[in-house]
Amino acid sequence: MLLEGKRILVTGVITEQSIAFNVAKIAQEQGATVVLTGFGRMSLVERIAKRLPVTAPVIELDATNPEQLAALADNVRGYVDGLDGVVHSIGFAPATALGGTFLQTPWEDVATAVHVSTYSYKALAMATLPLMPNGGSIVGLTFDATVAWPVYDWMGVAKAGLESASRYLANYLGDQGIRSNLVSAGPLRTMAAKSIPGFEKFEESWSERAPLGWNLTDTAPTAKAVCALLSDWFPATTGEIIHVDGGYHALGA
Ligand SMILES: NC(=O)c1ccc[n+]([C@@H]2O[C@H](COP(=O)([O-])OP(=O)(O)OC[C@H]3O[C@@H](n4cnc5c(N)ncnc54)[C@H](O)[C@@H]3O)[C@@H](O)[C@H]2O)c1
Repeated sequence: MLLEGKRILVTGVITEQSIAFNVAKIAQEQGATVVLTGFGRMSLVERIAKRLPVTAPVIELDATNPEQLAALADNVRGYVDGLDGVVHSIGFAPATALGGTFLQTPWEDVATAVHVSTYSYKALAMATLPLMPNGGSIVGLTFDATVAWPVYDWMGVAKAGLESASRYLANYLGDQGIRSNLVSAGPLRTMAAKSIPGFEKFEESWSERAPLGWNLTDTAPTAKAVCALLSDWFPATTGEIIHVDGGYHALGA
């Protein structure tokens, strides 16, 4: 099995549609021991955790909360003696930062989007570093930030920052055997996506244009790529972005 014996921390489960839920599920099916973190609605996350093949423990983590980040390593040690991989599946932007009001968004709301969606990647890596003394794999989720999209607005800026931050982490943590990679997914009907007004514009164009076609409700292709990056089969890959988008990114207009 791909992740036999691996200990993986997965953030970002909130519903069964969450990309993180399928990552946790497939990781378990591939032999991993999975620990989850949950944000805010802990009883909901705990209920969802019971729907995994093996009920996973859930640790509370607001990725912008310094106290919770500082306590994370000790809390994880309550369940596993270290980590081989960490999944960052976290994103949020206030409503004013999405949906076409880019020119009016105040800095405070941009700051929230960047704190939760960009800086938290570095913060999570540092919080879990003591658990990976022999190296490990950190994987995050992006939505192609090399171009401007309709309605994605400041979330797109935050994702551009995430893509850059992943490359910097690859640079700064490579000598400790830590790899940092992202999966760039096509549009998926999760809670985060549904909160973006006008998201259906992506959905239509993806379904029509992606060379391989695109299933808006199937998170498995994305979750499988995350699991592959967590495995030993990408030992010399870091600072990379793997597209799981039906091939959409490869086409011109
Ligand atoms: N759904 C898509 O179309 C799509 C496409 C590409 C990339 N992504 C990315 O995938 C990742 C997961 O999103 P999803 O689509 O599965 O949606 P989701 O709503 O299921 O997951 C988003 C998660 O972020 C968590 N979160 C928000 N603020 C947090 C905080 N302060 N601390 C800790 N956790 C916090 C939420 O609790 C939730 O579990 C995000 O980074 C998202 O941007 C999504």
